[in-house]
Amino acid sequence: SQLQPKPRRDDSGWSSFGIAFDIDGVILRGRVPVGGSPQALRRLYDDSGALKVPFLFLTNGGGVPESRRAVELSGLLGVDILPSQVVQGHSPFKNLLNRYENELIVATGKGEPAVVMSEYGFKKILSLDEYASYFENIDPVSQYKTWTTCGTETGHANSLEPNNDILSEKVKAAFVVSDPVDWGRDIQVLCDILKSGGLPGQKCSDQPALYFAADDLEYQAAFPTERLGMGAFRIALECIFNSIHYRPLEYKSYGKPNPFVFKNAERILTQIQLNHHGEDVKSHSFRTIYMVGDNPSVDIKGAQQAGHPWFSILTRTGVFRGKDNDSDFPADMVVDTVEEAVEFILHRE
Ligand code: G3P
Ligand code: MG
Repeated sequence: SQLQPKPRRDDSGWSSFGIAFDIDGVILRGRVPVGGSPQALRRLYDDSGALKVPFLFLTNGGGVPESRRAVELSGLLGVDILPSQVVQGHSPFKNLLNRYENELIVATGKGEPAVVMSEYGFKKILSLDEYASYFENIDPVSQYKTWTTCGTETGHANSLEPNNDILSEKVKAAFVVSDPVDWGRDIQVLCDILKSGGLPGQKCSDQPALYFAADDLEYQAAFPTERLGMGAFRIALECIFNSIHYRPLEYKSYGKPNPFVFKNAERILTQIQLNHHGEDVKSHSFRTIYMVGDNPSVDIKGAQQAGHPWFSILTRTGVFRGKDNDSDFPADMVVDTVEEAVEFILHRE
């Protein structure tokens, strides 16, 4: 069997380091594992299957609740991933609960955006698919979209029953939870909501809040070259909104490279350790946390900005394909694959 270097631990048995893995372009491409990711992750568990090295996934992607993503990842990668080990772009949306818990809000993106928000505790949430369906003719080209009956979110995420109130109640906030599926329809309906102060068809008023889970211009999926991400959608929406409205679009984007994402990941890794040891969390901190990513301007920039204890490792399985290091956001280490990254980390520790 493979020689396993013993990760360094302090006197109490706490690991002095943790790892944050990007998903798209590092662990998976589409739904297919890349870079030897299953083998790499298996090295972070002992023979009994217990976690040896605290790690989590730090992705700007999403669209399903963290609990479901953990089950999916466990199946694809052959290791037992806990929901607490999955941090998605939209995970910090739950911190906005006290602001919008009982307000009418809409959510869009691939997967089940309304289910995601409803699991965070939001009570009056509609997917943009469903919301748009209450406004006759809101999408003037809908009859040409032969695909709209399949692949959209089915059923209600919560107890919100469709009624006339929706046609008279203002939307307080719109959430772009994951990569939008129907850009044209989403841009139209979001412009309607944002321009009118929350009620499509009404005259101009103050813009409701708009939140994006991430701002990736491009990301690596199954196709050989990069795909347009949520940041590209944001540019399209912003450009159009600013051309048809007198006041520029206001919005807030979450996800990497924001420093708070890395602070939060550090806190969760500490919590993962704590769950294994049941000790006082305050008395321990990581000497190093490794960010293994494929996107220099997102993963590497974020880790650099976060500073100590972050150490960035760039792989060549996704957005970055360079021979040497990235010139704009050079990583602390460049490797070909995530398997090499884990090998490097375990030897260094
Ligand atoms: O849609 C997902 C993408 O924007 C980035 O995912 O895992 O590379 O952060 P990831
Ligand atoms: Mg990536």
